[in-house]
Amino acid sequence: MMYELSARVLSCESLSAQLSMLVLEAPEIAGAAVPGQFVMVQCDGHALRRPLGVHAAGNGKVALLIRVKGEGTQWLSRRSAGQMLNMNGPLGRPFTAPETRSHLLLVGGGVGIAPLCFLAAEVAEKHDVVLVQGAVTSAELYRAPAGLQSLIPSMTRLDSVTSVTATDDGTEGFAGTAFDASLNYLEWADVVYLCGPTAMCSAVNTLACEQLSCATPMHNAILDVETAAQKLLSAQVSLEVRMGCGVGACYCCSVPTVAGRKKVCADGPVFGLSDILWGDI
Ligand SMILES: Cc1cc2nc3c(=O)[nH]c(=O)nc-3n(C[C@H](O)[C@H](O)[C@H](O)COP(=O)(O)OP(=O)(O)OC[C@H]3O[C@@H](n4cnc5c(N)ncnc54)[C@H](O)[C@@H]3O)c2cc1C
Ligand code: FES
Repeated sequence: MMYELSARVLSCESLSAQLSMLVLEAPEIAGAAVPGQFVMVQCDGHALRRPLGVHAAGNGKVALLIRVKGEGTQWLSRRSAGQMLNMNGPLGRPFTAPETRSHLLLVGGGVGIAPLCFLAAEVAEKHDVVLVQGAVTSAELYRAPAGLQSLIPSMTRLDSVTSVTATDDGTEGFAGTAFDASLNYLEWADVVYLCGPTAMCSAVNTLACEQLSCATPMHNAILDVETAAQKLLSAQVSLEVRMGCGVGACYCCSVPTVAGRKKVCADGPVFGLSDILWGDI
């Protein structure tokens, strides 16, 4: 069920030069949201709402992780406690998790970490989870603010997840992308989840397709190349595209898939990696 409401800002915290966290009082959305879903948030002076993945939900509250991109996200990152925000959600098709205990590999590039933290917290009791986060540099890695776990207690489950960090410039963790770092866990993983820039997801798809057509081995030949490539191609990927209405009415978010054009807001944002025609996006 989708709700349209006015939510009170409980906190808005700057986490780095580009990242901020908004925690909102929105019991209806908090009670209904599942990992992979998003909300559409009204930003001052903009007719079109901005889509933001649910980063955490519970205890009547919804947390959004915001990376400043343009005017809308800039405005959101400057909210103060007590102000009200119009929003609707939860929207979209969520991630799915296996029924039986499995090894889940979650790979987030940039602000793609936002919905994956929600997923990790929700599945951590039932599955073994590795959460890989990549950023350009150490200062832009996401570190959950101290107060988040007291506002949304389910986020304490992230403590049992294996967290791996990667930075493009090598200032913290693995030197390289989140996907490069995740290759160390690919053999271990039963299911892979991806969220990040389109270029990152497209590159993962290209690599997997190349492996299947017998290009160079993916990771020091440790892995059975075909199994690893199949694992990647069956990954669940959450797409970040520009949206208009967010509810399936305008077609501005449509992407080419093996089954024709699909709307990211209504048919996604979560798709199978190999269902997307990446070369045509
Ligand atoms: C399902 C979904 C979940 C998302 N979750 C998050 C999240 O959790 N946190 C977060 O910070 N962002 C998230 N985004 C991206 C976010 O919606 C955009 O960054 C935001 O709408 C930009 O609005 P703006 O007014 O700040 O920038 P605009 O002024 O609209 O745009 C600024 C510049 O960024 C480009 N741009 C805008 N949106 C996108 C986009 N989606 N992809 C690529 N380029 C874009 C524009 O072309 C322009 O060049 C998500 C997007 C989707 C579709
Ligand atoms: S944003 Fe309007 S149909 Fe998806």
